[in-house]
Amino acid sequence: MAKQIAVVGAGLMGSGIAQVSAQAGYQVVLRDVTDAALERGLAGIRSSYERFTAKGKLTAAEAEAALARITTSTDLDAVADADLVVEAVFEQLEVKQELFRALDRIVRPGAVLATNTSAIPITRIAAVTERPESVVGVHFFSPVPMMQLCELVRGYKTSDETLAAAREFAEGVGKTCVVVNRDVAGFVTTRLISALVVEAVKLYESGVASAEDIDTACRLGFGHAMGPLATADLTGVDILLHAARNIYDETQDEKFAPPEIMARMVTAGDLGRKSGQGFYSYEK
Ligand SMILES: NC(=O)c1ccc[n+]([C@@H]2O[C@H](COP(=O)([O-])OP(=O)(O)OC[C@H]3O[C@@H](n4cnc5c(N)ncnc54)[C@H](O)[C@@H]3O)[C@@H](O)[C@H]2O)c1
Repeated sequence: MAKQIAVVGAGLMGSGIAQVSAQAGYQVVLRDVTDAALERGLAGIRSSYERFTAKGKLTAAEAEAALARITTSTDLDAVADADLVVEAVFEQLEVKQELFRALDRIVRPGAVLATNTSAIPITRIAAVTERPESVVGVHFFSPVPMMQLCELVRGYKTSDETLAAAREFAEGVGKTCVVVNRDVAGFVTTRLISALVVEAVKLYESGVASAEDIDTACRLGFGHAMGPLATADLTGVDILLHAARNIYDETQDEKFAPPEIMARMVTAGDLGRKSGQGFYSYEK
């Protein structure tokens, strides 16, 4: 069983993964390129633990013990002894490939090398290592402490042992796993949400229904917790435009072709909640 986890990248996702791992009892090494990024990541973890403590979901002693299990470093060598490494750096193939080349040199043989990529085929990341059988996708969702799902993604050469170790880790931090057997663009989750968002935006763009009514139809008609246009605003219109374009480029399937209005919104800076305006307006 994995005992020591290393998380590379202390941004939104990496700090969340470090947080749930430490809370589950793992020793965690959190690595980023600057001290400032590590401090931001740790501050986020601290304030999240405080919120859990205030709600009575964690005792102050448990929160303190979890924090004490996290060490930070800007030195990649600090991850060398980990049983399982989770990469959560920027979503750029070249950045991830450079990191996996380095991890392949540094990390002990037999360790699992996992990536939290949302969409990049695992096979393309694994191919730069000498141990593609040990590389696997562990796709967590934001915010990590709250979201129950982990999408496990097999690359072409991912071994059964690696997939089993990834599942043991994800379940160990309290997640429910789904397995994606082929690392197609967008995996399962991003494919589904992209198809729904693209169709919802087309209906909105052509004036068939208002944004509110499209979202209400999905919430009350199908029991979705949130409508697709509100989801696009929350995730970022730019992020979903990028995701749909990637899937469309790979599949040439028209149902993923992003409607024109999405690109125009992104150019104009209407990115959703983070910019204050998307399909809906938000107070900043
Ligand atoms: N944000 C989401 O909702 C979400 C959801 C699921 C998956 N993801 C995926 O998770 C990954 C990280 O996303 P994020 O939103 O946390 O990004 P982020 O921009 O918040 O954080 C990325 C971090 O990686 C660090 N970094 C960059 N290169 C590094 C390197 N070589 N070594 C160590 N650290 C490095 C950066 O300094 C930054 O702190 C991406 O692949 C993304 O697609 C994101």
